Amino acid sequence: MTALKFIHVTDTHLVAAPRRLYGLDPRARLAAAVGDIARRHADAAFVAITGDLTHWGQPGAYAALREVLAPLPMPCHLVLGNHDDRAAFLEVFPETPTDPAGFVQYAVETEAGVMLMLDSLTEGTHGGLLCEDRLDWLAGQVERFRGRDLFLFLHHAPFDVGVPGMDRIRLLNAEAFWQALQGHPRIRHLFYGHVHRPICGSWRGIPCSTLPGTSHQVQLQFEEPEAVPGSHEPPAYGIVLASPDAVVVHNHAFLDDSLRFPLDSEAAEAAQTAEELEGLALAPA
Ligand SMILES: [Fe+2]
Repeated sequence: MTALKFIHVTDTHLVAAPRRLYGLDPRARLAAAVGDIARRHADAAFVAITGDLTHWGQPGAYAALREVLAPLPMPCHLVLGNHDDRAAFLEVFPETPTDPAGFVQYAVETEAGVMLMLDSLTEGTHGGLLCEDRLDWLAGQVERFRGRDLFLFLHHAPFDVGVPGMDRIRLLNAEAFWQALQGHPRIRHLFYGHVHRPICGSWRGIPCSTLPGTSHQVQLQFEEPEAVPGSHEPPAYGIVLASPDAVVVHNHAFLDDSLRFPLDSEAAEAAQTAEELEGLALAPA
């Protein structure tokens, strides 16, 4: 069986036009990612965006999101983050499935396994929480799909990443989340957002990864900050190849236009400066 290819995007932080955010245009940034995905990965089964779809939860920002995502040739599964507004989101995306309690949680069955989209948005805090209703729904899905491979999509990581400003607002009830997973034997991967950085690792044996956002980033800072430090480090999205054997996540900095050159060329190897290499430059893939 060939690998299932899908795309992970996170923290798009759209704002309604003509506003910009932290000196950047999140709409244009996401549009560039969408264009790149449509051009290079039209064969991907779906795109999943793990929250902070918008920055202020404005209806106009969700309308902009709908417009910017429209050129994607594959389905796009949306997950809410702490910057989102559930009611405003559902006004603009009424076709998105919800669980019986009205939270934006749903299962997507694919040939590689079942993708569970989870809703950790909790009003009044930037931290995430899965309340009893959401945990009950999750436990039900885990039971329903006990014989299938599971992939989880959630905005807030259930563990510390070592960046104090973000760890304070992680998933606040990780133990209850763990209990709801009931020791499912085949949780292949947890895709999360929130941290605006490229991070991979595992949580209690479950492989996990996140990515830079498509707009602004969070600085890598392990010391206790006075404020959460942002940055203009490059944005990225992830290309995931999921087979029965492996889950591979590529981090693609879609705005990068640095020099491409042939690695197997002796002339390129011998170049002493970037200028010398420019004569051998390859077009971007
Ligand atoms: Fe975010």
